[in-house]
Amino acid sequence: KLLCECPPRGIREELSNHSPRSLAVGHCHPDIVKAAHEQNQLLNTNSRYLHDNLVDYAERLSKTLPEKLCIFYFLNSGSEANDLALRLARQYTKHEDVIVLDHAYHGHLTSLIDISPYKFRNLEGQKEWVHVAPVPDTYRGLYREDHEDSVTAYANEVKNIIEQAHKRGRKIAAFFAESLPSVGGQIIPPAGYFQKVAEHVHKAGGVFIADEIQVGFGRVGKHFWAFQLQGEDFVPDIVTMGKPIGNGHPLACVATTKEIAEAFAATGVEYFNTFGGNPVSCAIGLAVLDVIEKEHLQAHATEVGNFLMKLLKEQKIKHPIIGDVRGSGLFIGVDLIKDQAERTPATAEAEHLITRLKEEYILLSTDGPGRNVLKFKPPMCFNKEDAKFVVDTIDKLLTDIEKECLSQEKTSTCST
Ligand SMILES: Cc1ncc(COP(=O)(O)O)c(C=O)c1O
Repeated sequence: KLLCECPPRGIREELSNHSPRSLAVGHCHPDIVKAAHEQNQLLNTNSRYLHDNLVDYAERLSKTLPEKLCIFYFLNSGSEANDLALRLARQYTKHEDVIVLDHAYHGHLTSLIDISPYKFRNLEGQKEWVHVAPVPDTYRGLYREDHEDSVTAYANEVKNIIEQAHKRGRKIAAFFAESLPSVGGQIIPPAGYFQKVAEHVHKAGGVFIADEIQVGFGRVGKHFWAFQLQGEDFVPDIVTMGKPIGNGHPLACVATTKEIAEAFAATGVEYFNTFGGNPVSCAIGLAVLDVIEKEHLQAHATEVGNFLMKLLKEQKIKHPIIGDVRGSGLFIGVDLIKDQAERTPATAEAEHLITRLKEEYILLSTDGPGRNVLKFKPPMCFNKEDAKFVVDTIDKLLTDIEKECLSQEKTSTCST
């Protein structure tokens, strides 16, 4: 019955093309719907009872990760995963403090609002156990593309934070970052930055937690996990997964090392989660991995992402409001600026553009502290035709905006 109610393929594809990033392989994918339906007809139960799906799924996920990340905990949301990652880090290190990147968002639980500058800056502020490091943004950050060694410079910022924390008698449990800071402005940290940060953090007795909730599962094209863009020599101590993992079904995961899991288990307090890792969720997780493989979505992300980047870079030459186009696979940011010299965020213009795009039935949002970075993170079935359609529409709208600006007196929204 469920399958019959699925929209016909044409409509499904249309929906897929406009669905949010958590629907990684597209709305109502028949394989995912079928996997959920079949398992629902058989059995669903809590994870206190062993089920092959859970073991099979952990095994399949482990094949995508470096060997040392071999223990898996299943949960229902990205927030739950990050909260557990925090507990694991603290239990293992016996330290409390966390270093995060500026403007990060890691989830809606109390513990995660505390480590999300994007949220806590508008609430009660920064807790004494939280330390904020600058975003390794080589376009508008502290150290830019012309810096001779931005990797070391940004990593040294973390080193300084650790030294300052130690002077106050504080101890670092974790460095917690998205592998590609999304809310922070679709940033691609320079390769080698994580390795250097991990070195400083490990020396301080802390662990490295990579939040792959937005950026994992083949989206970056070249690799299955975004942290792998840093180089083969980098392996986080904990990886958290969510959003695309279940293609819209509430599922999340924490992967970690044996040592960290053993320290967690040593408390004698078992990890139990009623719905996390239930047989239906795991059937869906397995089906998502199958679809990514069967439909070659990782290679597709590279091909379509490169094509989209090329089109967007052509727009950069044409429209001076586009200051930077950066990305990997189907994770792309377009940084809109008011002026080349200062790279002042074109916040109002970005807002205006996404509103006009919505009128053309294209949903795009903005990110970054200046809310001026157009965020491209479509479902991975997004194709070249879609890319062309979106970029042509952006071109048309930017041309209209420029014409309006020329014909009007300069106003605050027409300053480019
Ligand atoms: C990077 C990142 N981490 C964690 C979360 C929290 O995930 P959830 O909303 O599934 O709890 C989000 C959600 O937007 C996110 O973007």
